[in-house]
Amino acid sequence: MGFNSLNDVLQEQLGDLHSAETQLVGALPKMAQAAHHEPLREAFQHHLDETRGHVTRVEEALGELGVSMPTEVCKGMQGLIAEGEEMIQMGGDPMASDAALIAAAQRVEHYEIAAYGTARQLADDCGFDAIKDLMDQTLDEESQADKLLTKIATGGMFKAGVNQQAAS
Ligand SMILES: [Fe+2]
Repeated sequence: MGFNSLNDVLQEQLGDLHSAETQLVGALPKMAQAAHHEPLREAFQHHLDETRGHVTRVEEALGELGVSMPTEVCKGMQGLIAEGEEMIQMGGDPMASDAALIAAAQRVEHYEIAAYGTARQLADDCGFDAIKDLMDQTLDEESQADKLLTKIATGGMFKAGVNQQAAS
């Protein structure tokens, strides 16, 4: 069966997002554990809490469509998480490895931002205001998470790390 309507596409996108978010709930604790700098660890932990809410919102959206829980696997997120795990395994200098973790995490956030942007537009096109609202809420949190990672990466965390190393 192909796609016969935008509703079909929305359903497929929500199924993919459900898999993506569920995978991320499993991966974020490992990212938090691997982070050296406290602000980064806290950012991952905070986003883990939010991500649990994202799973719930996608489930609510699927409920609005009246479809059963999807079984598809988001291969994009599988790949992004595999790359994140590579970063964790590489280890090394705390500051440098935290920068690598941020690089992996921001890829994840941008992937999700793209997916939610599509899903909210499809929901809007199909007249599903409640789903659009759910997608907007999550989109906002993904954007905030991305901005926080940028702030951590550019806000002097790494410079402070260099200074700490120089002093020790
Ligand atoms: Fe999310």
